[in-house]
Amino acid sequence: QPVHRIAVIPGDGIGKEVMPEALRVLQAVQQRFSVQLDLTPIAWASCDHFAAHGDMMPPDWKAQLQDQHALLFGAVGWPATVPDNVSLWGSLLKFRREFDQYINLRPVRLFEGVPCPLAGRKPGDIDYFIVRENTEGEYTKLGGIMFEGTEREVVIQESVFSRHGSDRVLKYAFELANSRPRKHLTVATKSNGIAISMPWWDGRADAMHAHYPAVAVDKQHIDILSARFVLQPGRFDVVVASNLFGDILSDLGPATTGTIGLAPSANLNPERTFPSLFEPVHGSAPDIYGQNIANPVAMIWSAALMLQFLGEQAAHDAILRAIEATLTGPRSEVTRDLGGSASTTVMGQAIAARVAAGV
Ligand code: NAD
Ligand code: IPM
Ligand code: MN
Repeated sequence: QPVHRIAVIPGDGIGKEVMPEALRVLQAVQQRFSVQLDLTPIAWASCDHFAAHGDMMPPDWKAQLQDQHALLFGAVGWPATVPDNVSLWGSLLKFRREFDQYINLRPVRLFEGVPCPLAGRKPGDIDYFIVRENTEGEYTKLGGIMFEGTEREVVIQESVFSRHGSDRVLKYAFELANSRPRKHLTVATKSNGIAISMPWWDGRADAMHAHYPAVAVDKQHIDILSARFVLQPGRFDVVVASNLFGDILSDLGPATTGTIGLAPSANLNPERTFPSLFEPVHGSAPDIYGQNIANPVAMIWSAALMLQFLGEQAAHDAILRAIEATLTGPRSEVTRDLGGSASTTVMGQAIAARVAAGV
């Protein structure tokens, strides 16, 4: 039985509140299954570390992390003390790039027991994957400000779409769609307004489609695609999008399933040359930090995706069943964003207990 080496990086804000609940669930998993985890807690990659050291991470951060099998990550960002671009480019975005985690896989699912903000939708009606490009696109530091501070001020912010970077995320999305019963792929585009990169991206999608004739492709402009996430969520099976479009869609999709507090993500380096990173879609939520009311499910589900990636399918399935059972259970065991009254801790304990009991 392999020992999985995991770096545990809570980060900031509610990252520090939901991470202990994921660790509680992982503890229950280790008791019930023959899963062995070697957990290394990491206090840096946080704005607290920045306050003490003037940087988000130590200079040898890469050496410290690159032999880990996975990174379990909470959330980073404390804009009251560190500008968001500094904290995020100094931690999470660095991990994604330096560890070439070019796939950001974000499942969107409506669960039994969770009130849906869309009228008349039931579990099964919203069940799709967002495959988000995670290392290039609109997320760059290329550009500059000219005539800064004058009336003539001009700002240029470049995007980067490489053939290598686009083809590999499109290939992953086609493979995923091809493996699912519906074999349907939505390609997010904006080739009417974004006149260079997006028509080119559509062309790369067409070229990749030639290798996957069984997959039905639906190209949609990002504006109407967003509307259909709300109005016709059943249309979607796998959605592939650029970095920024995928970011926006992956808050909107989970919002239609009741709360972003449920949504997990897997930042994957599929070749396993580097560790992959597993984290909630949500951020550090300064507005609720310190109250012990954050929903821990996004963090716990992310830990389950980590176990699945590490080959521990049974452990993954057990966590998902425990989450499902808790979501349909007493309201005293779910957090307020789900209409309940539980604290973060109580909900984490409820899920961990169900993992231990084997629901
Ligand atoms: P956010 O996701 O932190 O919060 C948005 C809203 O959702 C808030 O009202 C918050 O209370 C609520 N929310 C988020 N997670 C919740 C949970 N688990 N349970 C219940 N409610 C929850 O987004 P934001 O306010 O735009 O960003 C806050 C900080 O987090 C910023 O510094 C931002 O840059 C950072 N951020 C980090 C990540 C990350 O580390 N992956 C992701 C998004 C935002
Ligand atoms: C996410 C977050 C990050 C992103 C931020 C914090 C840089 O919003 O993981 O969705 O935009 O990728
Ligand atoms: Mn986001």
